[in-house]
Amino acid sequence: MMPVTTGGDTVTTTQDILQHTEGGVLTLTLNRPQRKNALTSAMYATLAEALERGADDTSVRVVVIQGQEAMFSAGNDIEEFLHQPPAGTDSPVFRFLRSIATFPKPLLAAVCGPAVGIGTTMLFHCDLVYAGDNAAFSMPFVNLGLCAEGASSLIAPQMFGYHRAAEALLLGEPIYAEAALEVGLVNKVLPPHETNGYTQQMARKLAAKPLTSLVETKRLMKGAQQDAVLQRMAEEGTIFGRMLREPAAKEAFAAFLEKRTPDFSRL
Ligand code: COA
Repeated sequence: MMPVTTGGDTVTTTQDILQHTEGGVLTLTLNRPQRKNALTSAMYATLAEALERGADDTSVRVVVIQGQEAMFSAGNDIEEFLHQPPAGTDSPVFRFLRSIATFPKPLLAAVCGPAVGIGTTMLFHCDLVYAGDNAAFSMPFVNLGLCAEGASSLIAPQMFGYHRAAEALLLGEPIYAEAALEVGLVNKVLPPHETNGYTQQMARKLAAKPLTSLVETKRLMKGAQQDAVLQRMAEEGTIFGRMLREPAAKEAFAAFLEKRTPDFSRL
């Protein structure tokens, strides 16, 4: 982690998120392969800062979030959940969720391999999602003694239909690439080695269009639901924050780190 000064503001950044701007496209690459791109507070802070800056920076017209060919993200870092759970709704994870949900310009994601927890829920706030045929989207919050986050309790039933959303959110079953295409979570399924490149092509296509038209059209499509999304995120965040400190979640996190099956029999 290192402090960086941008226009007078000191921000915290991390090499676990790579940032590259070219031809109006800001690409944010999740880059913590040794932990399967599990997201830490520093990574959320960097992502939130990049989105907040990208929203105002006239040289940024489109943003892409990507991982690598075998991995998008293992979700929140479980060790951090156990030892430094987010302190409140102003913490970096919630700042990231709010900034992704309100990002005004086109936002694309390229997803290969597992996309767990927030690795999936962040995609509900992207405009276009391209998936490798190895992608697996999962929201195993219940299995971790937690509840839905990122407004997934609102958007998943709307997007998938209630029963499929219940399968994803109550059972925590993964949704594989072809099924994700069918339920409308992704736009196209590609071979993993083509996914990031194809997403860049689509981003460049968007970057060549009139930005005001893109921004106004996105605002009109999302506007009616914006307040409901932010309200649901806040509601989920309060419950999630409480549940992180309760015995079921602590048992689930300890079990993951100790590589054993959790025992919820007394909870
Ligand atoms: N937080 C912290 N560490 C994580 C992690 C996470 N979310 N996900 C993976 N890691 C670590 C593992 O503990 C392991 O560490 P080790 O090398 O010290 O043993 C390393 O990253 C590699 O993970 P591993 O599980 O061996 O990789 P895999 O390819 O077999 O499986 C996943 C990949 C993503 C399917 C699996 O790691 C996983 O299920 N992770 C947890 C996902 C999760 O529940 N996230 C929280 C959602 S709210």
